[in-house]
Amino acid sequence: MNTVIERPALLSSRLKIETADLHELMHALMEQGQPFANRDNYARFVAAQYHFQRDIEHLFADPAIQAAVPDLDVRGRAAASLADLADLGFDAVPEPAASAGVAMPGALGWLYVSEGSTLGAAFLLKQAKARLGLSETFGARNLAAYPEGRAIVWRRFVGFLDRPALQEQEHDAVIAGAAAAYARFGSLLKRHFGLA
Ligand code: HEM
Repeated sequence: MNTVIERPALLSSRLKIETADLHELMHALMEQGQPFANRDNYARFVAAQYHFQRDIEHLFADPAIQAAVPDLDVRGRAAASLADLADLGFDAVPEPAASAGVAMPGALGWLYVSEGSTLGAAFLLKQAKARLGLSETFGARNLAAYPEGRAIVWRRFVGFLDRPALQEQEHDAVIAGAAAAYARFGSLLKRHFGLA
């Protein structure tokens, strides 16, 4: 008689599958906001990115998050976004971090959304270059690959997500954190693009 052994789904797989609709929503908002139509529209996207990255970097101070993701020093794009806004001739108005009060394990979901967005950023960077004449050193630093390369840094993050140290019961909280982070990015895009 054969026995079927059920393995728990990996957290990274659950995140990808269970937040796919929210990712689609980001595409829809980007489509509406037309960030590559001109540099002013693009600066609105960068302002949303800046505020989101401040939320993410706010989390970096938490020792529990440092333990879960031990290479935080190579992650985060708040300074890059701010420098891009300056390149484009805009000031950014900082605001309190929306992630204040977010702790592990939900914080890992926020980081998932930020780190995953570095993959899609490869496509956005191509458009920023081709349509707006920007580059990794002027205006589009926030879309640049990390120095080690997008894939390597992403795979390392997925390795942290899927470490057995994280109990399966905590996975739902990580997914809820990712949903909250997508909601935050969505509301920032709407606000900065002036969408209803
Ligand atoms: C129009 C804008 C966007 C495009 C074209 C895009 C495109 C993509 C693509 C092609 C991937 C898969 C890359 C790969 O597997 O190598 C990806 C992954 C991802 N993107 Fe986006 N993206 C966009 C916006 C965003 C935004 C605004 C966020 C969040 C703030 C985001 C979060 C993610 C996440 C979390 C993943 C990882 C999914 C996973 O493998 O678990 N994306 N994106």
